[in-house]
Amino acid sequence: MFKAAVVTVSDRCSRGERPDEGGPLVAETLKNAGYEVAKTVLVPDEKDEIEAVLMRLADSGTVSLIATTGGTGFAPRDITPEATVAVCEKLCPGIPEAMRAASMRITPRAMLSRAQAGIRKGSLIINLPGSPKAAKENLEAVLPALDHGLTMLQGGLADCAKIKD
Ligand code: MTE
Repeated sequence: MFKAAVVTVSDRCSRGERPDEGGPLVAETLKNAGYEVAKTVLVPDEKDEIEAVLMRLADSGTVSLIATTGGTGFAPRDITPEATVAVCEKLCPGIPEAMRAASMRITPRAMLSRAQAGIRKGSLIINLPGSPKAAKENLEAVLPALDHGLTMLQGGLADCAKIKD
């Protein structure tokens, strides 16, 4: 079972002005897919703070997957993708490409998500949009391939060509 962390990025939720609905829904979706959600964090739309949380989680060596929700759009304070890129050692563009391709079948506004995904040490970081519905839809679009990627990231699989499925 892979361990995951969920990071909700929202000024209003972190100030207590709005309940965090996206984070709990992402956590529930991950649990239903067989993940253990080891940590949930709430952080404002501040680049330094997002970077610090992502680095702390990835560098702890305790979570394979870090899913963020929020801050991927065009609003002036949206900065989650930039914070993610700043802390990642490798980018994984196929993951946001797949999320946007699947989401475009649901709404043309899917193209407005600037979500990124990347690897820092042994953790895969994936940005999800902020609305709970959008976050769930984006996560579900990529979940079927994630365990394969996370197994590779942990060094448990060196050669995909030897695997039929
Ligand atoms: N993807 C899906 N599947 N469903 C949605 O409703 N909303 C879009 C997009 N991706 C949406 C979606 C919208 S309206 C925006 S602005 C962007 O995600 C970014 O959302 P965020 O600013 O809340 O992170």
